[in-house]
Amino acid sequence: MKTKPLRVALLGFGTVGSSVARILCERPELGDRLQLTHIFNRGVARKRADWVPTSVAWTDDIDVVFGAKPDVVVEVVGGVDPAGGWVRRALEQGAAVVTANKMLLAAHGPELLRLAVTNKTQLRFEAAVAGGVPLIHGVREGLAGDRLLRVAGILNGTSNFVLSTMAASSREMADVLAEAQRLGYAEADPSADVDGHDAGAKVVVLAGIAFGRHLRLADVPKRSIRPISAADFRYASRLGCTIRQIAMVDARGDGFNARVGPALVPSGSNFGLNMGANNVITIAGHYGGENSFSGAGAGGPATAVAVVSDLVSLTGRIHDQGEEWLPAKIVPPPPRPYYLRFVVRDRPGILASIAQLLAAQDINLDAVLQEPGYPKDALAFVITVEACEEAPLLAALREIESADFHAEPPLALPMLLGGE
Ligand SMILES: NC(=O)c1ccc[n+]([C@@H]2O[C@H](COP(=O)([O-])OP(=O)(O)OC[C@H]3O[C@@H](n4cnc5c(N)ncnc54)[C@H](OP(=O)(O)O)[C@@H]3O)[C@@H](O)[C@H]2O)c1
Repeated sequence: MKTKPLRVALLGFGTVGSSVARILCERPELGDRLQLTHIFNRGVARKRADWVPTSVAWTDDIDVVFGAKPDVVVEVVGGVDPAGGWVRRALEQGAAVVTANKMLLAAHGPELLRLAVTNKTQLRFEAAVAGGVPLIHGVREGLAGDRLLRVAGILNGTSNFVLSTMAASSREMADVLAEAQRLGYAEADPSADVDGHDAGAKVVVLAGIAFGRHLRLADVPKRSIRPISAADFRYASRLGCTIRQIAMVDARGDGFNARVGPALVPSGSNFGLNMGANNVITIAGHYGGENSFSGAGAGGPATAVAVVSDLVSLTGRIHDQGEEWLPAKIVPPPPRPYYLRFVVRDRPGILASIAQLLAAQDINLDAVLQEPGYPKDALAFVITVEACEEAPLLAALREIESADFHAEPPLALPMLLGGE
């Protein structure tokens, strides 16, 4: 049965809000479920974007938004006031609310969730913790069958950038923090990040999701990463460890313990390997053991994906094609760089002939690697090639394979370097 699309009003057209609007405008296949009707922002005239359809009303009058009785209000303004008042008003008039606002949820989550229930509507907030990582859906739905014991994670990208850069470069905190500020990873006043307030608010939201319990922000002790020095990393490394800002909640008996602060973690663990501004979260369950989630914890497009996923889930029709699996058309893989390993009976001109056959297919060499010490009759070397289509690569390899210098058949492996 065809239902009408949900009418969506967007409050806030900043980093996240403009990315939410982009996705809604660029994915016409969502149009039969979600219709963007209003964009609200103070001083809205300077915000107007020509890629937004003319059917969308731009306004800086919040009463215009509520007067239009939207089905869903997306709150991506941020802060507790006035955003909190608008979220209450939306829920009271029966609209569902999707928000990315961890500060509002940490301060008023229980009251707002009750308000949603009283008004027979919904409050969703996938984007409020770990940005684009589908953590809340993963915990609420994917791990609903377990009795959860602990949630621990790197939830603040700025602190992780600072600590992972210190670990990799042996530099001191002040120097790295200044670089993070230059690169836009850290605010001019970095205390929300490095002193643990941002991760603390996220832990409050996570405790609600994982354990159905409300911790007050004041119940979460926060220790700053500021005292960590290059010497701490040297000592940690002698213990097989490194240092990260970890936010965690443990269920103990009938109580809970939450905290945020720097901690030693094994260098080879998910936490120890987590670099830059990435987020990683591990959930421990009584039955299922540990599960980890990782990805972009911030950024407009990634966070907007979480917001739009909440919108889609409100429509109750998550799958693009309903529950039907339509036959798929099979296409070749996208262009990729490849690793080509040869084992040859050595003689002059082999490299040149391989390079020529690759060039004949318009494939560019990237690097040639040859370690010393192989016997002349089984000399192993590697060529990496720049991203190319698979078909010409296979054609070149067929030609190359027919040569008489091979001691073993060549091996071709795609290089999955991220960003494919
Ligand atoms: N950015 C991220 O990566 C990220 C990740 C996860 C969650 N979040 C959350 O998402 C929310 C939005 O963050 P953001 O980064 O998109 O912030 P942002 O870029 O500052 O956008 C906020 C928008 O709301 C508008 N606004 C602020 N106060 C207003 C008011 N009183 N009346 C009308 N409009 C107002 C701002 O207008 P002006 O242009 O006039 O300031 C701006 O366009 C926050 O709760 C944040 O914690 C953000």
